[in-house]
Amino acid sequence: MIAGRLGSGAGWSVPENRFVGEIARTYDQRGTGMFAELEATVDCLVELSGGGAAMEFAIGTGRVAVPLAARGVRVAGIELSADMLAVLGSKPEASDITAVEGDMAVTCVEGEFSLVFLLFNTIQNLTSQDEQVACFENAARHLRPGGRFVIECRVPGLRQLPPGNPGVPFAVTEDCIGIDDFMDRTHNQISRSRHFRRRGDDSFREFTAPFRYVSPAELDLMARIAGMTLEHRWAWWDRSPFTGESPSHVSVWRLADAQIEDGRRRRASFATCGRRARYPTRSPTPRPTTRPTTHGNPSRPHHSPPAPAKAPSGTATEPSSGKANMHTVLLQRSLRTQNQPRSPLPPMTAPVFGAAPRR
Ligand SMILES: C[S@@+](CC[C@H](N)C(=O)[O-])C[C@H]1O[C@@H](n2cnc3c(N)ncnc32)[C@H](O)[C@@H]1O
Repeated sequence: MIAGRLGSGAGWSVPENRFVGEIARTYDQRGTGMFAELEATVDCLVELSGGGAAMEFAIGTGRVAVPLAARGVRVAGIELSADMLAVLGSKPEASDITAVEGDMAVTCVEGEFSLVFLLFNTIQNLTSQDEQVACFENAARHLRPGGRFVIECRVPGLRQLPPGNPGVPFAVTEDCIGIDDFMDRTHNQISRSRHFRRRGDDSFREFTAPFRYVSPAELDLMARIAGMTLEHRWAWWDRSPFTGESPSHVSVWRLADAQIEDGRRRRASFATCGRRARYPTRSPTPRPTTRPTTHGNPSRPHHSPPAPAKAPSGTATEPSSGKANMHTVLLQRSLRTQNQPRSPLPPMTAPVFGAAPRR
């Protein structure tokens, strides 16, 4: 399997990896909301993949990728945080998932996908318009003609701002206080999400991250720049209608079939994605068997999802033979990089786990 990285341009910020250490280790233990109500999400993604391979940008700990792979969809992912990947790699159910460490705006993975998806408001973790556009272009680069790019994102809560006040609370409970602070409402559309979550010892852990909030209409324009058009916009994964009151949206854009030649050109341009390297597909290192013990989660849903609805299942795919064991390569990598200073940018050639998804 091959991965590469595109060059960066002016107005490009270095993506900061905030999902490290305790944040990554405790990410999976929410058990509610976005973590519990996955059936409609997975049903919908299975159908949208149409039996082909799927790529998750910002795959994280595999909250969705793992149940999607269990439904027979071949899943690959790109993820900035090595710590999140380590949690993913510790899950025995993730052994068929191919994961690459890198920035979803610029990292290229060889292969052709019928579906690229980016969930949980994470397009907004890219904090400039240039990077968000690049992310759409990178999605198009990975898609086969007619393939789909799906984003799940909240609608910016500007309407909820009290006059003269830049902050909107999104969670006020005994255990969690969350405030969206709209810091730059002029050119750059930057908000800051501040989470204060109670620990077991009653202290509060703060997790604060900047976002570039973005409207559905602006995302449509980014899709057009990348050669895609809107196919669906729902309020949630049960395909409930999106309205002016919807706090979130699930949007599906499609790379046109008419762009077959263009798509070929894009795939050919993979050669320009930066240095490329081939990684071992087998490792002698034994697979770790323990799962991390976790509590809490820094990210939060901005949705109150309606009851899940069934969608038709997609076609199951065969597991590929000679597939790498992701866990073992992860472990090798983490041993290799222990105590080494981290570059502020992901490496030009991102470490690759697993085998390339079959078309
Ligand atoms: C809210 S979590 C979502 C994880 C997973 N998709 C889910 O739905 O549970 C956001 C994830 O995005 C990752 N991330 C942020 N910026 C990224 C980037 N530029 N490229 C790749 N991953 C990124 C973070 O490291 C983190 O794992």
